[in-house]
Amino acid sequence: MLAVKNLQKSYHLGGQAYPVLKGINFEVKQGEFVGVMGPSGSGKTTMLNCISCYIPFDQGEITLGDKNLSHLGEDELAAVRNKELGFIFQDFMLLDGLSVKENIMLPRIISGRTGSDMEEGAERLCQVFGIAKIRDKYPVEISGGEKQRTAVARALINNPLVILADEPTGNLDSKSSKAVIDSFLQAKKMLDATIFMVTHDSFAASFCDRVIILKDGVVHSVVSNHGNRSDFQDELLDAIREMDGGDAA
Ligand SMILES: Nc1ncnc2c1ncn2[C@@H]1O[C@H](COP(=O)(O)OP(=O)(O)OP(=O)(O)O)[C@@H](O)[C@H]1O
Ligand SMILES: [Mg+2]
Repeated sequence: MLAVKNLQKSYHLGGQAYPVLKGINFEVKQGEFVGVMGPSGSGKTTMLNCISCYIPFDQGEITLGDKNLSHLGEDELAAVRNKELGFIFQDFMLLDGLSVKENIMLPRIISGRTGSDMEEGAERLCQVFGIAKIRDKYPVEISGGEKQRTAVARALINNPLVILADEPTGNLDSKSSKAVIDSFLQAKKMLDATIFMVTHDSFAASFCDRVIILKDGVVHSVVSNHGNRSDFQDELLDAIREMDGGDAA
């Protein structure tokens, strides 16, 4: 599904190279909910931006489905971004001038695939996420939780291979965070969606199947969920504490 092999990326400032990703390796399977944790500056967003085709990387391979992203040109990358990836942004980024349903359909409209199945797809997602009643309302007229579910539905409208989320619960209180996680779990259960989420929040991460822990641009460890959420959260906290003294939990 998603495979990252020996991913390397440096930023160049003032003629000097600052390596940020130093050979990252992992795989995510179809239907998996995978988290990424690690201290601030460990390269989480940089890695997500490479997978998102937003920034070029220096070495290594990213494979998404049957496509090797390292071999694609600009137009092909734009198509991958639009069709194969779904994005959840920290502030959800709904367009105020569009209704809930129009916001959900937006990725389809952008890709010009506006056939009748677009409406059907949007309706189905409205049902799955319990927002059918508010489908014709505008973002200012709906609650925070409804906005989040709209954003998750929008990320799914193109039936992407993977949903990518960078700190989707970062600005939220614990109740709203749980609502975002619940919509991910719903997407996984009902639609076999694959979700890849960067988070600082060990509670949010404890709902993942697996959490990849980054440190200094490499995979420090991978912690798997064996079924008990609170045990898993404790293991994540231990792993993070062991790594950096506990300031990133
Ligand atoms: N566009 C850029 N140009 C130069 N350096 C950058 C750029 N973006 C990030 N960096 C540097 O790369 C390193 C990794 O940044 P990144 O944003 O990937 O970290 P992160 O793990 O997402 O951190 P956080 O948890 O704070 O979001 C940091 O040292 C950062 O200062
Ligand atoms: Mg970040």
